[in-house]
Amino acid sequence: GKAPPFALSDAERHEIEEEIHHYPDSRAASIGALKIVQKHRGWVPDAAIPQIAKMIGSDAADLEGVATFYSLIFRQPVGRHVITVCDSISCHLTGYDELKTALEAKLGIRYGQTTPDQRFTLLNICCLGACDRGPTMMIDEDLHGDVDPAGLDQILGAYS
Ligand code: FES
Repeated sequence: GKAPPFALSDAERHEIEEEIHHYPDSRAASIGALKIVQKHRGWVPDAAIPQIAKMIGSDAADLEGVATFYSLIFRQPVGRHVITVCDSISCHLTGYDELKTALEAKLGIRYGQTTPDQRFTLLNICCLGACDRGPTMMIDEDLHGDVDPAGLDQILGAYS
């Protein structure tokens, strides 16, 4: 049969409405609304964009632009945990290459990919704002600085 058309859930709609109430201009809720959908689904499907846009009184193309600009809004399904590795200049000087190589070897995936067990998605991102602690990476909401590739097993072990 045909898949039912995409619809935001009642919970998503309710939370987006609450978010809109926080702002004098509902379009200011763009990122908040995208994050709500991501919290519920793990990512933001294309079909969600026009529906979110309608709720916040924005243009779907504008909202698509916002969603594309923020690298922490995921536009494809991701694993249970998302690792984002800083690939900006300071981290390049403090061991980025070794960290990237070690992560790819340990997880058996490259940037943009998810492990077959759906445990981790690996992404690169620009400066995480902790340049004095390079090399850095985020796992979900946690910032990890001065990451020593030899200690990766221990770090990753905390995310099941
Ligand atoms: Fe990596 Fe800024 S360059 S955190």
